[in-house]
Amino acid sequence: MRTWTILDYNQWDQRTKGQCRSRRSLVSVVVVIVIGVMILAATTGTRSRYVSSSPSINPLNTRFAWDTGNSLQDERHRGTKKLPRALIIGAKKSGTRALLEFIRVHPNVRAAGHEIHYFDKNYWRGPEWYRNMMPTSIHGQITIEKTPSYLVTLNAPERVHRLDKNMKLIVVLKDPVERAISDYIQSREKHRDKRSFEDSVFIDVGKLKINDTKPCIVIGKYSDHLKRWLQYFPREQFCFISGENLAKNPASELEKLQEFLNIRTVITEEHFYYNSTKRFPCLKKREASGVPHCLGETKGRVHPTVLKSVKKALYDYYKPYNEELYQMVGIDFGWERTRPISKANQIY
Ligand code: A3P
Repeated sequence: MRTWTILDYNQWDQRTKGQCRSRRSLVSVVVVIVIGVMILAATTGTRSRYVSSSPSINPLNTRFAWDTGNSLQDERHRGTKKLPRALIIGAKKSGTRALLEFIRVHPNVRAAGHEIHYFDKNYWRGPEWYRNMMPTSIHGQITIEKTPSYLVTLNAPERVHRLDKNMKLIVVLKDPVERAISDYIQSREKHRDKRSFEDSVFIDVGKLKINDTKPCIVIGKYSDHLKRWLQYFPREQFCFISGENLAKNPASELEKLQEFLNIRTVITEEHFYYNSTKRFPCLKKREASGVPHCLGETKGRVHPTVLKSVKKALYDYYKPYNEELYQMVGIDFGWERTRPISKANQIY
């Protein structure tokens, strides 16, 4: 009886143990599945999207990249493409490339390498296309784009304002006469145009009558273009860079720009050296590569000699526009003071 009881107990015990074992393995399987799902959710970002859809339960009360669907952690490590918060809008041939190459050395700046032309030629492609053209940036970095034709594009101010009314606008301006010569050289090379500077900017060279329908001339009427921008953006949202000073003393212009962008002053004169072959300042270390870098051969071309009488006619033409500009932005660029005053037919 006892033996049977023992046997019975053993049988019961074994059966119970068997049931317990299968229950335990069932629990283990469930635990493994739950852990697996959690790991999967964390790695695919599902969980962060779920959490970020409810900002009230964000324990850190930090910014989420809702617009891109990436978690803040993703953004911190790998970066995301963001729309620019600052634009170099012009003016063409004033030193816009130099400014971009110099500012992008800053660790808090990311810049699109080439001109995107979103607010003029590519507007129809939409903001998502524009954002995709940007480099990735991480938390704390500002994205910049430069397309110098924005300055003269009629509907660009309204389009930029529609995208971001807080956009920071950077304008590099150079003496419009020197700018026109630089523009002429570029288009002569590009279009293999053999005409002289005089022939290309005057309707009547003998009477020094300027052809003010030529883009090369129109671009230099800076006050006309800025009037349109100032209808949409307050003066504080603009940073004006002197093209002349940028070519002589880039560090001082860069200091101004870093302050405007609200980033630490990292780029100083230590970053530049004067290259006597190039005849321009160059970077001691380029962004990322760490090797010295001068701008390419399309920047810093040799200019033709232009008759003083021709220059004088152009200075006279631009005078009212320049004066209006100085009033409008509160900066005297002093271009007239360097203009030639002496006799006609003398070479400048
Ligand atoms: P030139 O090639 O006519 O001398 P942008 O980049 O807006 O097209 O402007 C080109 C102009 O930038 C050049 O015109 C040159 O004068 C000026 N520039 C200013 N700093 C420069 C630099 N460090 N290296 C080369 N060109 C520079």
